[in-house]
Amino acid sequence: MNDNKRELFRNLEKFYPPKGSLRILEVGCGSGANFEHYPTGCRITCTDPNPHFQQYLKESMAKNDHLVYDNFIVASGENLKAVEDNSVDVVVCTLVLCSVQDTLMVLREAQRVLRPGGAFFFLEHVVSDPSSWVYFFQHVFRPIWYFFGDGCEITRATWKHLEAAGFSDLQLRHIQTPLFVLLRPHIVVKVLILPLYIAEVTGLLSFYKRVFPLLVYKMSFSYNNKMNDKKRELFRNLEKFYPPKGSLRILEVGCGSGANFEHYPTGCRITCTDPNPHFQKYLKKSMAKNDHLVYDSFIVASGENLKAVEDNSVDVVVCTLVLCSVQDTPKVLQEAKRVLRPGGAFFFLEHVVSDPASWVYFFQHVFQPFWYYFGDGCETTRATWKHLEASGFSDLQLRHVQPPLFFMIRPHIVGYAVK
Ligand SMILES: C[S@@+](CC[C@H](N)C(=O)[O-])C[C@H]1O[C@@H](n2cnc3c(N)ncnc32)[C@H](O)[C@@H]1O
Repeated sequence: MNDNKRELFRNLEKFYPPKGSLRILEVGCGSGANFEHYPTGCRITCTDPNPHFQQYLKESMAKNDHLVYDNFIVASGENLKAVEDNSVDVVVCTLVLCSVQDTLMVLREAQRVLRPGGAFFFLEHVVSDPSSWVYFFQHVFRPIWYFFGDGCEITRATWKHLEAAGFSDLQLRHIQTPLFVLLRPHIVVKVLILPLYIAEVTGLLSFYKRVFPLLVYKMSFSYNNKMNDKKRELFRNLEKFYPPKGSLRILEVGCGSGANFEHYPTGCRITCTDPNPHFQKYLKKSMAKNDHLVYDSFIVASGENLKAVEDNSVDVVVCTLVLCSVQDTPKVLQEAKRVLRPGGAFFFLEHVVSDPASWVYFFQHVFQPFWYYFGDGCETTRATWKHLEASGFSDLQLRHVQPPLFFMIRPHIVGYAVK
């Protein structure tokens, strides 16, 4: 990574203060592997939550005596309270955001301690393109990596947090390093996944889009049985969102086969959307069974792009077992907010990732790649509540529940968020 680091740290010179040396705060400094790249005379403050790095840090300090070392603080990046506001010119984070508990909090702390005009430097490994085999193997090996890498996750889309962090200028490039070639596309890997690969190139996987609705339709009966109480409790809140006049207008995103219709109050007007047109056959069956509702239309659209639905035009958006499969959760939430009238609500019921200390979490990650294919893009490893918390609804009613379902999808979140 010598060239990459050299290129990155060449930019340090842009952030010198008008007077004096460049003050660098290194978050998660580890053994000080970046010191050789810092210009002579920089003042370095190091932080790391693991005090046992200090011994190796001292060796790096001795080797790099062109720098001035101010302090080593034992602290996590999420809580840098020992560092004053606006007190450093540069914060450096390399191979750290893969392991922190809360990336956004680390970025917020970095912004707090940086002087105005200062910069956050990063170099992080991230999740690969979902259509690559690297992505597949990153998810297969992720749990093992997590245990042996002291909490390091190889499946993070860290750039999304950087984009969302509110820096005034973000210079970010995706690069492919020659590291760990075993995780790169390789002939052995290609042989191992040959069946899925063949299914993909022969179009068998797109055939699966036709079969999937039948599976969802069949499974929705047992799911509804087990979730009846939770759904009843959730949808009881619909009554709070009636408009002053007329019926409640519900937009169901990723409606599938219409498994929620039985829970909607009589007279509601329903607009259904789903990107998979093959659900329509089963949707019609549910509509026929639930003739207490008025069905306005079925729109073939993904939740990320609901352009057929006008701004502020519905009272309630419903999304159940959908945010596990969408391409871009924040975009779906943004679209939901756009189409909701002010004071309207987004209702959700979603399975989510388990507690990282649990075996469920381990198996969710081990089986995720297979689940992804057979669940038509469904991911059991999403912390969907974080997106809901970050989406800017005025009131978020969210509960974590553990209904009696198959362990991979047992952890659920349920609730509603008001625009
Ligand atoms: C497991 S089914 C759930 C169906 C239904 N909401 C339910 O609760 O039974 C997942 C649904 O999400 C839909 N879906 C997948 N990606 C989507 C996206 N980007 N936007 C909206 N819906 C999506 C699928 O087509 C499918 O209907």
